[in-house]
Amino acid sequence: MDEQINSRALAPVGVFDSGVGGLTVAREIMRQLPNEKIVYFGDTARVPYGSKSKETILRYSRQIIRFLKTKGVKAIVVACNTASALALEEIRDEIDMPIIGVVKPGAKVAVEKTVNKRVGVIATEATISSGLYTDYIKAQDADVTVYSKACPLFVPLVEEGWLKDSVTEEVARRYLEELKEQNIDTLVLGCTHYPLLRNMIGKLMGDEVTLVNPAYETAVSLGELLEEKGLAAGNENRYASEMYDFYVSDAAEKFKKFANSILPFRIENISQINIEEY
Ligand code: DGL
Repeated sequence: MDEQINSRALAPVGVFDSGVGGLTVAREIMRQLPNEKIVYFGDTARVPYGSKSKETILRYSRQIIRFLKTKGVKAIVVACNTASALALEEIRDEIDMPIIGVVKPGAKVAVEKTVNKRVGVIATEATISSGLYTDYIKAQDADVTVYSKACPLFVPLVEEGWLKDSVTEEVARRYLEELKEQNIDTLVLGCTHYPLLRNMIGKLMGDEVTLVNPAYETAVSLGELLEEKGLAAGNENRYASEMYDFYVSDAAEKFKKFANSILPFRIENISQINIEEY
């Protein structure tokens, strides 16, 4: 039995996102849990998820999970905030392995950080209209007031690589204006792409506002979950030839360029698959 558990522990963790943004979560898992192998899937053919319906995101998420299962994963991280907000609760009941998203861990940190109990959440339109960040925050502390704002232009601006551009700064100024007026002291970066705009958002919001990146806490929660289930990898995996596998549904070259600009090492091999087959 012990042996069985141990060999399962050496299996990879499946991480998925609508595209490249989830690499900010994968990067954090690599940093905090260096023994864990990762199979990453970015749905680059069907990004963005943030403007799509719940039914569509559920269908996509189910397909991706079926694909990740073919890679023998032992647990799944829904690195996409939109899929975490719209699909995770239903999917959790359908699969026989541990699965976590990014919304709950992000909400937890926000409640821990806020002092004046005024929290801002920025995310895609779908995540904001799901109301899930607000629900999770309020479930932990009903006295916290949550101010939400969808920032749909941030994703294409980040994908374009305009991280320090004056156009992006102007867009950010407009989006963040009303949150600034609400006197929030904590702001959740509730979309995979937003941590890449952290410096700009931080400058606009000012030092008195704590920025929460759910990726960090998600990696912490993953570590705890794997330990609890007896699935945490020991350092045997470090000798594996391939620790990280990357799959996309389209535009592998573009993905590679982006990945190499944010990961601490170079990746060469990215496989393209037809996700509609799953
Ligand atoms: N990954 C998505 C999220 O975190 C952002 C990109 C998209 O809209 O698909 O919500």
